[in-house]
Amino acid sequence: MKIESVTYVERAAPLTASELTAALSGIDIVLSEPQDDLSKGILSRCKALKMVAQRAVGYDNVDLDYCNRSGILLSNTPGVLDNATADLAFSLLLCAARRIVEADRYVRAGLWHGFESDLLLGREISGKTLGIVGLGRIGEAMARRAWGFGLKIIYCRSAHKTSGATEIELDEKDRRLAESLGARRVSMNELLSESDFISLHCPLKKETTNLIGAAELALMKNGCILVNTARGKVVEEKALVEAVTKGKIIAALDVFAQEPTVPPQLVKAPNTVLAPHIGSATDETRLAMAELAVSAVLQVLQGQLPANLVNPQIFESTVNKL
Ligand code: DGY
Repeated sequence: MKIESVTYVERAAPLTASELTAALSGIDIVLSEPQDDLSKGILSRCKALKMVAQRAVGYDNVDLDYCNRSGILLSNTPGVLDNATADLAFSLLLCAARRIVEADRYVRAGLWHGFESDLLLGREISGKTLGIVGLGRIGEAMARRAWGFGLKIIYCRSAHKTSGATEIELDEKDRRLAESLGARRVSMNELLSESDFISLHCPLKKETTNLIGAAELALMKNGCILVNTARGKVVEEKALVEAVTKGKIIAALDVFAQEPTVPPQLVKAPNTVLAPHIGSATDETRLAMAELAVSAVLQVLQGQLPANLVNPQIFESTVNKL
């Protein structure tokens, strides 16, 4: 099949359900992003749709079960955004620990009148313990940065709520990480209570929705810096707001439960650093993501199976329809 026409939909904010349905009417292939709500309700109205090429590694906005049942191919962009996202997560950690945003505001407001020995004192990074939740490609890139900064690294790989210590069987990857980065795999509860800083790097799925709730926040050390560049819904936002408001934790966030809405309490709080979902936002990475998304489409159109297809099991039965 050849591409006959391409329609670009300009949008400054997420499209409403009716705008999205109208935009996808009669469309065979859509290049989508995390803000596009491709849930069953929408997909079921897009009768012509045969492929969703998501320009993101996360695809929690797309109903994968519905795609599988309805013969809609889904591709994503793994591997090309690991460094950019880990860079942002580490920047958020540094910003929160060293109060860089506050310092910038202070200088711009003309409040700086000379060196003061206790001005804007922050937290030392090196020697502290960083807990990484989800040790996939991005989590591992975060761990490499942490190693360079002299942090102790602990992590849990399967991000599930657990109660108490569980027996952990180490595998080849765990041994490699222990050897190269001194990283130690622990249970979720151990990670929550031992970390000075915690960074979330798990995908949003049923099992990771609200993974960090009131009970998990309570286990964290007072003053723990919680970095989230994964997805807002991995953290129960109401509980997060409460923990921030009470001063229990410092939150450094790139993602929110209902983007682009940011709870006003988080905006007002002095103990937050906030970014507008820019984890992968570098020129190089966004271009690489676009290229990967488009190349998946071109491969499918040539009858080839792209390596970044999320549901390769329906490839054979679907590719002929295109
Ligand atoms: C992703 O890839 O999932 C990011 O959140 C968007 O770039």
